[in-house]
Order: sequence, then structure tokens, then C-alpha cells
Amino acid sequence: MRKVGIESLGFATAKNHITIEDLAIARGVNPEKYVIGLGQKEMAIATPCEDTVTMAAQAGLCALQNADIDPTSIDLLIVGTETGIDHSKPVASYVHELLGLSTNCRAIETKHACYGATGGLQFAIDRALSGRSRGKKSLIIASDIARYGIGTAGEPTQGAGAIAIIVSDEPRLVIIETGAEGIYSNQVMDFWRPLYRKEAVVDGHFSIQCYLDAIEGSYKNWQQSLVKSENKQLALTDIAACLYHIPFGKMANKAHMKHLDLIGINDKNVANEDYTLRVAPYLEFCSRVGNVYTGSLFLSLYNLMVDASKSFEGKSISMFSYGSGCMAEYFLATIPQNALKLPDFRPILDSRTQVDINEYERLLIANTNADQNDRVFKPEDWGVAENPFIFLGVNDHKRQYIKLP
Ligand code: CAA
Repeated sequence: MRKVGIESLGFATAKNHITIEDLAIARGVNPEKYVIGLGQKEMAIATPCEDTVTMAAQAGLCALQNADIDPTSIDLLIVGTETGIDHSKPVASYVHELLGLSTNCRAIETKHACYGATGGLQFAIDRALSGRSRGKKSLIIASDIARYGIGTAGEPTQGAGAIAIIVSDEPRLVIIETGAEGIYSNQVMDFWRPLYRKEAVVDGHFSIQCYLDAIEGSYKNWQQSLVKSENKQLALTDIAACLYHIPFGKMANKAHMKHLDLIGINDKNVANEDYTLRVAPYLEFCSRVGNVYTGSLFLSLYNLMVDASKSFEGKSISMFSYGSGCMAEYFLATIPQNALKLPDFRPILDSRTQVDINEYERLLIANTNADQNDRVFKPEDWGVAENPFIFLGVNDHKRQYIKLP
């Protein structure tokens, strides 16, 4: 069968962050709850000049540059987001212009909470497999700002960022395995973002249970389709790393314990060792950015490709995507020989500005209220004048963006 998959990845996040300890102290919570109990370190916080579009464009540019890909080779752009900016006009429409993509390119938005970009990825994979892409490539971008609000239980699990994924029949980074698929969908009210507010409504503990149920449902579906298609069972030794949707680091631990249980490993010591080997090394980027919703699974993949791509060549990894509401998918991917080396994102994370709790609250409120008609921002007032893509506010009901040369 033809090999298709990911040719390049790019990541972008907001310019400012706070430490999770500062947030805990300000809320009168023992910092160990957020650091150990949730597994977080830092949290990205967007200014009003950074939105779903600017981060998506920045990540898209980064993905194109990382593999030296000509933008005119893209003929499908899908932005998966749950931080929409318009009922009608997709984020992809602005990103299409900002990246200078061809006019002969489909540009659409997909939505199912944190699953949206995975859906886009799978559609692009099918398209590449079918041969209809005729040598062209697809750009799939996950871009979100996670908002729960000041003083809520979800507050330490906010974040902001975008991941761009270039899909083609030259999978220089990751081959997506298409022999079996594990799909699970179930209408549940665990987390949603009603049209009349910016912050998510979440039933936190129930959402964790729904996530775990979705692993079970999608993994079992994957196993059934694998048995049907190739008549074999999966041994854990076939999988070098297990990547998950990561709303907060500790969720990956809960997810892996469930995954191991489904595989038949119940010994706690064995399970903990396995977690340390196959999951924990790829949580660092997420722990420093926070929940980026649609992009978080792929941020963990970026982390793995930066730290371990050489030693993973020829090996398979499992990927689990979860979108509240809910829709989930379990699938496998393989790292090819001579995989493309991605630039380390740590220098960019290190160069962000650390803000204190007062500035964090000012930014959170300003970003949440940024979408008002005739409210225009000066990028220098928000310290982002050198960002490659900037949201200037809404003028005459039209969103205004600039791209620095
Ligand atoms: N030292 C160490 N650990 C501590 C501690 C301390 N002093 N105090 C508490 N803890 C531990 C707790 O034992 C708990 O760990 P376990 O779950 O392993 O038992 C952990 O810290 C969190 O404590 P609580 O459960 O009491 O925390 P909480 O009720 O305040 O809120 C939350 C936690 C429900 C995750 C909340 O942050 C939230 O609602 N977040 C948003 C929803 C979310 O992320 N859901 C995830 C699944 S849905 C999804 O994945 C989609 C998505 O992206 C949103």
C-alpha cells in the first residue's frame, strides 16, 4: 500500500506565560496540586493581538519552512479549532491569505472540540491515499486558546497555541498507518463552549471519565478492525511510545493506565515503569504551554520528533485524540528512516516573557474581550510588535490582520 503521512510540523504559541506556581499561590492553592497533581509547569497567555488566526498562520509558516515547502504546493487548508472567530467565515480564510496560498486551494474549518484537527488530518490522509491530491499537499492546522476563567477549577489547565501539519505522499516525519482505525463517538455534556460566552463550561471530573471511556471505545474498535484486516493482535512491544491528547500532564498518566489495562497489564509497578518509558518523556512541551486543545496531541508528537526521532526510526507509536462532547480516535503511526529533524522549540519557550498574576489577569480579560466592533489595538502596547502575524482588532465589522515583511 502507498505510504502517506506527515511531511512537516510547525508550532506557535503566545508571547507571554505565567508559572503554574505563581497561579497556585495567587489562588491560595498548594502549588504541588498544580505541579504534581495536574502535571503542569507554565501556561501560555495570549494578548488581544494574538488569536486563533495569528497563531495558526505562524505555525503554518513554521511547518512550511521546517521542510522547505513551497506554499503553492498546498491545495487543501483545514483549520481545526474550537476557538472560532466567526459563525460563517473560517479561520482558514484569513490564514490562506496570510500564508499566500494559491487561489486554487480549498480552505475550510473543522470542529469537534479537541478532535477537529485529527478529523482534518484523517480526511487529508484519505485524500492523499486516493490519489486525488495529484502531487499536491494538505496543510492541517490546530489552533486554540483554552479559557476557563479566573478562579475556576479549570484555570490551571488553560493555554494557547497552534500546530501545523503538512500531509503528503512524502511522509518525511511520520507515516500514518491506515490498516486499522479506532473510532468512538458519543453525545455527552462533559465540556462545551456556548455561543454566548468565551469560557468553556466543563464538568471537570465527568470529562476525565468521558475521556477514559473514549479510550476504551476507540481502542476496542481499533483492535476489532485490526483483527479483521490483518488477523493479528497488538503487542505493546510493537509500540515505542504512546501519545495522548493532553489537557494537563497527569491526564496522560490516567490515559496510559487505562490503555495498559485494556492491553492486559494491571501490575502497578510494571505500568508505572512503562509510563516512564513510553509517555512521560514527551509531555514537556505541553507542560510549558498548557492545554492547546486541538493541537495538544500533535504538540506531544513534535516533542517526540525533537527529542527522539533518530532512535525511533522504523518504530511505531500510538496516538489517541479526544474531543469533548465527544469524538475520539486511536491510530498508529511509524517514524520513517532518515526522518526529518525538526528544530527544537525550547529556545522559543525560553524566550517568552514571564508575567506576574496581575498582568496575567489583565491579559486574560483583554484577550477574552478582544472581539468587539471598532476596537483597534496597538501591537506595541501589548509587546507583540515583532510578531510575524498580528490581530489589530475589528474595524467596521472586519477583522484586521497584518503580516510583518
Ligand atoms: N499535592 C499533590 N497532588 C495533589 C495535591 C497536592 N497537595 N492536592 C491535590 N492533588 C491531586 C489530586 O489528588 C488529583 O489527582 P488525581 O486525579 O490523580 O487524584 C489532582 O491533584 C487534581 O485534584 P482535583 O481533582 O481535586 O482538582 P480539581 O477538582 O480542582 O480540578 C480538573 C481538576 C477537573 C482537571 C480541572 O482542572 C478541570 O476541570 N479542568 C478542565 C477540564 C479538563 O481538562 N478535562 C480533561 C478531560 S476532557 C479533555 O481532555 C478535553 C479538553 O481538552 C478540555
